[in-house]
Formats: sequence, structure tokens, C-alpha cells
Amino acid sequence: MRMTNLAETLGDCPFRRDVIAGLSAAPKTVPAKYFYDAEGSRLFEEICGLPEYYPTRTEIALLGRVAPEIARHIRPASALVEFGSGASVKTRLVLDAAPQLGAYVPIDISESALSQAAQSIAADYPNLRVSPIAGDFTRPMALPEAIRARPIVGFFPGSTIGNFTPDEAAGLLARAHSLLGDGASFLVGADLVKPIDTLLAAYDDAQGVTAAFNKNLLVRINRELDGDFDLDAFDHRAVWNAQESRIEMHLVSRRAQQVSIGGDVFEFAAGETIHTENSYKFTRELFAGIAERGGWRVEAEWVSDAQPFATFLLRAA
Ligand code: SAH
Ligand code: AVI
Repeated sequence: MRMTNLAETLGDCPFRRDVIAGLSAAPKTVPAKYFYDAEGSRLFEEICGLPEYYPTRTEIALLGRVAPEIARHIRPASALVEFGSGASVKTRLVLDAAPQLGAYVPIDISESALSQAAQSIAADYPNLRVSPIAGDFTRPMALPEAIRARPIVGFFPGSTIGNFTPDEAAGLLARAHSLLGDGASFLVGADLVKPIDTLLAAYDDAQGVTAAFNKNLLVRINRELDGDFDLDAFDHRAVWNAQESRIEMHLVSRRAQQVSIGGDVFEFAAGETIHTENSYKFTRELFAGIAERGGWRVEAEWVSDAQPFATFLLRAA
């Protein structure tokens, strides 16, 4: 199994560039994709098992129930191309229900999570051709030559689409459309609006795992970009932004302070925040509108029985 690494091929440091640009902006921000170093991916998996974090177990239950129906939409020898595959846990539900799948292309920015998951899938599904791509799916990429002749099914679970603004999400879906091609179908998981208490608990759990996940961004900046963030001088905060229909995660500066990153100095006022993540909560109409703007139409949709969470089957429009 050969793993393609796009960042290495390009040979630049987008992490440094984006952190410096984001902390120079007002309000300060860092793109959420930088949560996922090896420790960030490990913490995310821990979040998935928390009692408060309903999305993972809800989507797993939903996919378990509807996978046989989904499988009827998948043609023989198709390739499953997954965006933000992480530990590839939900993938197994699709692979088990659709043994006609002949190839699997997991795409993830977190190399450690990707290589572990790809090896484990390759070992457990010996008839599947597994071709992982380590890279940023918001950047240009190409599908491996080996799968180009196959029918393509995109897979984007986890409501990772919710980590993008509606404009960014429409752009990302358009990019996915070009990558997957006109004949493709695309299975996308999207978390739906629900009571605020449920949402806030999911993003600010009692054990503090989400806080550790958020603060790990500062640990990563310190290690990889020669930063001197004092971890005790920042607090995790999750807020519901009703107007935008999103949970926002922030890191709040406890006091006025200066932080140096590789020699570049950033000033923080007491209470000033770094906006680290958006997690949009959709209505079916909002999602369908974004999908349409991205060049897709909703062919089928399934909604969970428990906490509202949807899986949409999209077709290139
Ligand atoms: N699909 C899994 C994991 C979701 S967590 C699930 O549903 O549980 C989000 C995943 O997307 C992480 O593994 C993260 O590394 C990856 N990711 C986030 N932004 C990315 C980007 N821009 N390009 C590629 N992978 C990304
Ligand atoms: C990956 N993504 C969909 C998760 C979410 O719920 O927005 C990341 C996460 N952030 C905090 N907890 C989990």
C-alpha cells in the first residue's frame, strides 16, 4: 500500500503561514484543520466516546440501520473516497453492507491517524484496494490513477462539513464534485439543530477532553512553530451562535499577555479569544441549499431516530 503525501510534495509550511495570518487578524482565528496532529486525532477519538458527544454514536446507529439501503445505490467495483477519514470506524459499516466496493481512498490531513486506519482496513478487507492520501482536502488534489475507471462514491461522515461556513462548505462540495466526477454519488453526514443545552454539553464535556483537544492546538504551535504559549493562561470556551446556527470554540486569554511564535510577537488583551472552530448545526433545507450551490442534488436522506442527525445521498447535478 502506497501513501501519497501532498504537503511533502509541495514542500511548504501552510501551518506556519495560516497561524501567523490568523493571529494577525482581528478577531484572531486559526483554521480547525490544525487540531489534527497525532495527539489531536487521539483526543478526537476520545471525544467520540464521551457521554455528552452524541454525534458519533448517533451517526453510527443511523448508518448501521440504513447501510443496506445505501448499499443498493452502490455499483459493482466502485471506489469509496472518504474525506476526513480519521480512524475509518464508520467506513466499516459501509464496507460491510456493500461488499461490491472494490477500492477505498481515505483522505486525511492527520498522517498518523490515516496510516493506522488504512493499514487496519487493508488487513481486515483483503479484497479491497486501499490507496490513502495524506493531504488537505480544501487544496487541489487528484484521485489515484488506479481508481479512475471505477464508479465513484464519496463519503464525508462526522458532520465535518459543519466545520466550514456555508460559503466554504459550498466551495468544498464543488471541489469534491470536480474531484469525484459527474457520475459520482456522495454520502454526507450532517448534524442537525437541537436544544442548546445538548449542544453546549457536547462541546464542553465534564471530563475536559474537549478543552484538552482545543488547547492541544497551542501545544502543537509551541512544538512545531517554536511558540511560547503558556497553556495555563488560556481557557476553553464553547458558545452557541444562534444567528449563524453554529457552536463556536474559542481559547480565551486569561490576562493581557504577549506570545512569541518563531520570533513573531502577538499581543492578547485580557478576555481576547482565538476562534478555533465552527461547528454548524443544519436544517435539511440549509444543507440542501449548500449542496445545490456545490453542484449536487439530494437524491435520498435518512435522519436518526435519536438526536437529529442526517445522512444525505447526493448526486452530481
Ligand atoms: N470521519 C471521522 C473523523 C471526523 S474528525 C468520523 O466521522 O468520526 C475530522 C477528520 O477530518 C479528522 O481526522 C481530521 O484530521 C480530518 N480533517 C479535518 N480537516 C481536514 C482537511 N482540510 N483535509 C483533510 N482532512 C481533514
Ligand atoms: C470533526 N468535527 C465534526 C467535530 C465537531 O463536532 O465539530 C470536531 C469537534 N470539535 C469539538 N468536538 C468535536
